[in-house]
Amino acid sequence: MQRVLLIIGGGIAAYKAPELVRRLRDHGLGVRCLLTSAAAQFVAPLSLASVSGDRVYENLFDLTDEAEMGHIQLSRDADLILVAPATADIMARMAHGTANDLASTTLLATDKPVMIAPAMNVRMWTHGATQRNLAQLVADGIGVLEPDDGDMACGEFGPGRMQEPDAIAARVAAELSGEVLRDAGTLQGRKILVTAGPTHEPIDPVRYIANRSSGKQGYAVAAALAAAGAETHLVSGPTQLDDPKGVNVTRVETAMEMLAACENHLPVDAAIMTAAVADWRPVDMAAQKMKKSHAGAPGLQLVENPDILASLSEAGPRRPALVVGFAAETENLETYARDKLTRKGCDWIVANNVAPETGVLGGDMNTVHLLSGDGEETWEKMSKTDIATRLTARIGAALQTEKQVSTK
Ligand code: CTP
Repeated sequence: MQRVLLIIGGGIAAYKAPELVRRLRDHGLGVRCLLTSAAAQFVAPLSLASVSGDRVYENLFDLTDEAEMGHIQLSRDADLILVAPATADIMARMAHGTANDLASTTLLATDKPVMIAPAMNVRMWTHGATQRNLAQLVADGIGVLEPDDGDMACGEFGPGRMQEPDAIAARVAAELSGEVLRDAGTLQGRKILVTAGPTHEPIDPVRYIANRSSGKQGYAVAAALAAAGAETHLVSGPTQLDDPKGVNVTRVETAMEMLAACENHLPVDAAIMTAAVADWRPVDMAAQKMKKSHAGAPGLQLVENPDILASLSEAGPRRPALVVGFAAETENLETYARDKLTRKGCDWIVANNVAPETGVLGGDMNTVHLLSGDGEETWEKMSKTDIATRLTARIGAALQTEKQVSTK
């Protein structure tokens, strides 16, 4: 049985800890609880002991605890450490490597995967100090279960609410089942093409047709693939984003340029098409800025752009072993996405709802469905970075079962 060490921080969300223990156990995981001294004010050790079926650990300087089960042993006995709720204070101590109680000492002594589920007041969460600590924790390889938006115990509304216990438990179970790729190098030797961002289709020298894509999801996918060892080529439309680390980036403006840049990179083992390519472009770009005239608004003649995803999915010697499309829809998500899978001939479609109320366009969180010829999965709401990591793991697994494609 795989074991989770649940470190409970001292915040109001600690009252959800017994429920979280139950949900983790529903996934067949063993759970041992460790309470910070502040957490013991919010949740009774006795209730945790009864739901976990184990004793509860509390204080570094409790000599019985150290004699029976030191902080090193607590870490050794766990397959994963989950900090939930992760308060601003615990995050700060983790980011700085302080070791002044049993929780922080165990976290510093561990070489096991660590995940945190932050929970705090919205202003504490958005404060520069917390965001700096968060960035440090992400850089240290710690998995973050981003807090939800919602009403808070303090009477405010915004991001800072701990994710629900069933969502946290599902993520921990997925991590432990190996669905999440940890070992950089799994995609070593693979060449992967990613498209991202919008395209701009010029009307005249100063005007263009564009869309609201920020490119964040595609950049996160490219970064995750590169971190997993793939030779990653990102063909990006215009975005505000910096080049992801370790990724070869080609910047383009139009759909026609994006297609040409993609073809230049072939052959590749996999192609992940996240770009929001403009469906149409003006037939001719006016050579000079169009001027208003008394004749009224100019008619805009449009012509359809080539479909890059469909063209890369065409059977032939240069078809990548795995072609993944993205579908952004505002209604009938699954029907439209499945239709795209068939129509475009790709292997998977990652479908997401981009209706304005979801905040997906330009935001950091997303809820996606992964569709393939075999079936369909719904992934729980998570950050675009976490989606990229999970998708990378799936790509790694799929390529291992495909025959090796020559990339040179
Ligand atoms: N795509 C592409 N080239 C295009 C249009 C779309 O490569 N000219 C790719 C996108 O990168 C994405 C997938 O196709 O992976 C679906 O994009 P989407 O814009 O949702 O599909 P469309 O074919 O444009 O369908 P519609 O606009 O009718 O929803």
